[in-house]
Amino acid sequence: MRVGILTGGGDAPGLNAVIRAAVRKGIDRYGYEMIGIRRGWAGLLEGDTEPLNLDSVSGILPRGGTILGTSRTNPYKVENGVEKVKDKAKSLGLDALIAIGGEDTLGVANKLVKDGIKHIVGVPKTIDNDISATDFTFGFDTAVNIVTEAIDRLHTTAESHDRALVVEVMGRHAGWIATYGGMAGGADVILIPEEPFDINEVCKLIQNRHKRGKNFSIVVVAEGALPKDAQEFVTKEQTLDAFGHVKLGGIGDVLSKEIEKRTGFETRAVVLGHIQRGGSPTAFDRVLGTRFGIAAIDLVHDKDFGKMVALHGNKIVGVPLEKAVAKLKTVDKELYEIAKVFFG
Ligand code: F6P
Repeated sequence: MRVGILTGGGDAPGLNAVIRAAVRKGIDRYGYEMIGIRRGWAGLLEGDTEPLNLDSVSGILPRGGTILGTSRTNPYKVENGVEKVKDKAKSLGLDALIAIGGEDTLGVANKLVKDGIKHIVGVPKTIDNDISATDFTFGFDTAVNIVTEAIDRLHTTAESHDRALVVEVMGRHAGWIATYGGMAGGADVILIPEEPFDINEVCKLIQNRHKRGKNFSIVVVAEGALPKDAQEFVTKEQTLDAFGHVKLGGIGDVLSKEIEKRTGFETRAVVLGHIQRGGSPTAFDRVLGTRFGIAAIDLVHDKDFGKMVALHGNKIVGVPLEKAVAKLKTVDKELYEIAKVFFG
């Protein structure tokens, strides 16, 4: 058997753990030939590949990013893209494909399965943790730890200077990173895309803190959070990627200016940006990535295609790709209610 692996979409810490696990078990236990497809779907369209052997995956477990490279290429936006993918898969002699990615990469995988490229297995990856049908995606825990550490550091400076600090974190439609990172860091306000916010209420929370002698505040805002009356995301640019997503960023700045104007308290914004995706994965993400990689190659071995590996409780299971991409997994209301207890 010849098995291809690709990584698509934004990189996430733990991708290399998945690749290493699938390659190790694929070669050692199943005697497969493993092929790395470079730069996500772009590599499959162009036939840009490299052989993966035990040496190629040696020492990659602690490394962030992906040794295969990634892209946001969408074959459905390329002329005759699906035919090209079919032809390349055939000429490369691929018997199966493991696609590691988020909503976009897995959405393409699901469509390709329906369009006749059936031998695909998906692995859920995203720091955003917004893929349905899995309790967690790898990359999320690392991102949350980075946010938590940043909030801890920002607390000391906010406190020393009597400032409000607005920390903008990633999360387009789902505020998982903001909620977990904010809760772990003891943020005073957490704003997420799922619950449009009222700027007056945010200011009131900060003012109440001052009234009880707390002259500093930390506000965590997800990049996709929206003020109640806003119709669209706050963005710096209007350019769209191949999946129709606008480049986010800027809400932190807008919010901090508004807080300063309305309360008179000195307020600064910090954008954590790609720092949240960078660097070495946490132990949790390494273990989850490893378990997903093993489960993915096992699904290939069982010829159980059209599935995505998923974490359910403490078990790894296979779920239909269709179920995983049907809708995004947004923040659990009960969890956000717990976070709110600590607002203000
Ligand atoms: O999907 C993961 C993610 O980090 C989002 O949270 C964010 O909106 C997006 O990727 C940013 O993508 P890029 O790195 O391509 O700008």
